[in-house]
Amino acid sequence: MNYPVFSLSPSPSVFVIVLLLFVQVPSSVSNSALFADCSNKFVCGNISADFPFWGTGRPPACGIPELELKCEDNIAKMNISQVAYRVLDINQDDGILRIAREDYLVGLCQPQFVNSTFNPKVFESVEGYTNLTFIYGCMAAPTAMPVPGLFTCKINAVNYQSGYIQAGATGPGECYGSVFVPVSITDLSPVVIMPDLEQSLKEGFEVRWKVDGEACRECNSSSGVCGVDSVTNQTTCYCPNQSSGSRTCALPGSTPNADPAIPAPGRDTFPVT
Ligand SMILES: *[C@@H]1O[C@H](CO)[C@@H](O)[C@H](O)[C@H]1NC(C)=O
Ligand SMILES: *[C@@H]1O[C@H](CO)[C@@H](O)[C@H](O)[C@H]1NC(C)=O
Ligand SMILES: *[C@@H]1O[C@H](CO)[C@@H](O)[C@H](O)[C@H]1NC(C)=O
Ligand SMILES: *[C@@H]1O[C@H](CO)[C@@H](O)[C@H](O)[C@H]1NC(C)=O
Ligand SMILES: *[C@@H]1O[C@H](CO)[C@@H](O)[C@H](O)[C@H]1NC(C)=O
Ligand SMILES: *[C@@H]1O[C@H](CO)[C@@H](O)[C@H](O)[C@H]1NC(C)=O
Ligand SMILES: *[C@@H]1O[C@H](CO)[C@@H](O)[C@H](O)[C@H]1NC(C)=O
Repeated sequence: MNYPVFSLSPSPSVFVIVLLLFVQVPSSVSNSALFADCSNKFVCGNISADFPFWGTGRPPACGIPELELKCEDNIAKMNISQVAYRVLDINQDDGILRIAREDYLVGLCQPQFVNSTFNPKVFESVEGYTNLTFIYGCMAAPTAMPVPGLFTCKINAVNYQSGYIQAGATGPGECYGSVFVPVSITDLSPVVIMPDLEQSLKEGFEVRWKVDGEACRECNSSSGVCGVDSVTNQTTCYCPNQSSGSRTCALPGSTPNADPAIPAPGRDTFPVT
């Protein structure tokens, strides 16, 4: 974009200068600051992460809105679709996150009655996991079908304490409430042993985040740090000495990078609702 900044022709350049004052200059300041801020890694216990995550020293512009991390007592945590998770592993190379529901770390009986669902625009499932539904507060456990896991839980304000497990993602039916969650146990045919199931819930499950890593790798290898443009929701590159967001950083000694701030549609976009 070659703005005629030093042109002497009157009104258009005044307009452009005003535009530059209000758009370029603040963005220059914030881009250097964002380069510094987004260069910070999230570190919590033995979990560390950078783009596309943000939180705890990394401002929102460093990552995708859905991927906010928090560190509490050296334990990494995040909320996904209203469910509280503990973060057990972040594999940046493969784009895989391993998480466990906080409510099931203490057993089956204090559920947060919200299903583990994932925005398909941001996450995709990883092979080897299958949904199980935990059904609570049943007047009587179903007798007609073989039921893999029967359990008893006293849920506040519910009289009925029988619960059972069903394969797949279903609802509570006649019972008080239900929760579905992916687990690594894929073979439900023999009776599920409760301790194994509780262990499996503690070990969590994996989801893959859907961000085109290519744009970020280009940025990273040009000494920039990746972030997200808050207006376009696209991957952008913050550079040490560059005024506006761009795909990559200018190499030292080369002419300033003249790539448009807004990348061509269809490239390095990740849709976010
Ligand atoms: C960028 O590169 C650095 C050093 O090679 C690496 O530690 C970091 O994880 C990379 N970040 C991303 C988002 O690829
Ligand atoms: C999850 O959401 C709850 C309720 O909104 C909030 O109190 C908590 O801090 C959030 N936790 C994380 C890790 O974002
Ligand atoms: C963190 O430590 C725990 C327990 O020591 C281990 O199971 C886990 O794999 C470690 N995670 C990472 C990302 O190193
Ligand atoms: C669990 O069920 C939800 C809702 O039906 C579905 O979108 C998701 O792909 C399922 N996950 C697995 C691991 O099968
Ligand atoms: C969980 O999903 C099931 C099946 O889609 C649904 O019937 C149930 O109401 C959901 N539970 C919550 C708390 O949203
Ligand atoms: C960017 O994401 C935010 C939050 O998810 C959303 O409100 C906004 O509409 C998105 N903007 C665009 C241009 O997609
Ligand atoms: C950025 O510019 C400053 C001042 O012009 C200079 O001291 C610094 O070395 C530059 N940093 C990089 C990474 O080019």
